Amino acid sequence: MKPLLELKQLTYKRPNGKLCAQGVNLALSAGQKVAITGSNGCGKSTLLMMMLGLIDGVDGEVRLFGQRCDSEAAFAHARTRIGMLFQDPDDQLFCPTILEDVCFGPLNQGYSNQEANKMALQTLDELGIGHLAQSVGYHLSGGEKRLASLATILVMKPEVLLLDEPTNDLDEENCQLFIDIIQRLDLPMVLVSHDEQLRRALTTREYHFKDGKLSLTTI
Ligand SMILES: Nc1ncnc2c1ncn2[C@@H]1O[C@H](COP(=O)(O)OP(=O)(O)O)[C@@H](O)[C@H]1O
Ligand SMILES: [Mg+2]
Repeated sequence: MKPLLELKQLTYKRPNGKLCAQGVNLALSAGQKVAITGSNGCGKSTLLMMMLGLIDGVDGEVRLFGQRCDSEAAFAHARTRIGMLFQDPDDQLFCPTILEDVCFGPLNQGYSNQEANKMALQTLDELGIGHLAQSVGYHLSGGEKRLASLATILVMKPEVLLLDEPTNDLDEENCQLFIDIIQRLDLPMVLVSHDEQLRRALTTREYHFKDGKLSLTTI
């Protein structure tokens, strides 16, 4: 079976000349859950964005769901099947209310206003934040923003998750809630996290990213 996500010889230098990735290879198949660690600024978030075609000027190959993504159209199609939780929730919440943020994906998928509202409210309820539906993103606490961001991707029923330091703002209780939710979903994922407990709870294979290269580490 072909991997769901495959990177072949990805190489990327920032416009300022800083090397971000140098011949990165990675394959994520159905059922696989991998973690990526690495020091601040080593390029982990950029690497996740490269997987979705959100960075220009990348050399090498990205394959999503078996298809080579060499155009914005190919990436755009695949992106609808991948749930990316950005490191900064403010990159994910940009509508006047949380309800509108969560409706945004389903509306883009072609659901009616009524259907999108129903899906969004149900997802918010499942995450225990139904009461935040009419709140404004920038008024929420860090943890509430994180759960609301999670709602914006889960409402679209993703087939693969890319999670970028997802529990940074969560207290112990919400961190456990997050772990329970992600474990229950049981989706293939790439998790970037400095939290060893989280990596152990959610993933079975671990890579370290350093000097633009990914190397497998043992857990
Ligand atoms: N838009 C940008 N323009 C220029 N440099 C950037 C930009 N975004 C990030 N960087 C730099 O690229 C490096 C890698 O960033 P990032 O992928 O965010 O690392 P990590 O997620 O591992 O902490 C950092 O040194 C960061 O300052
Ligand atoms: Mg980062």
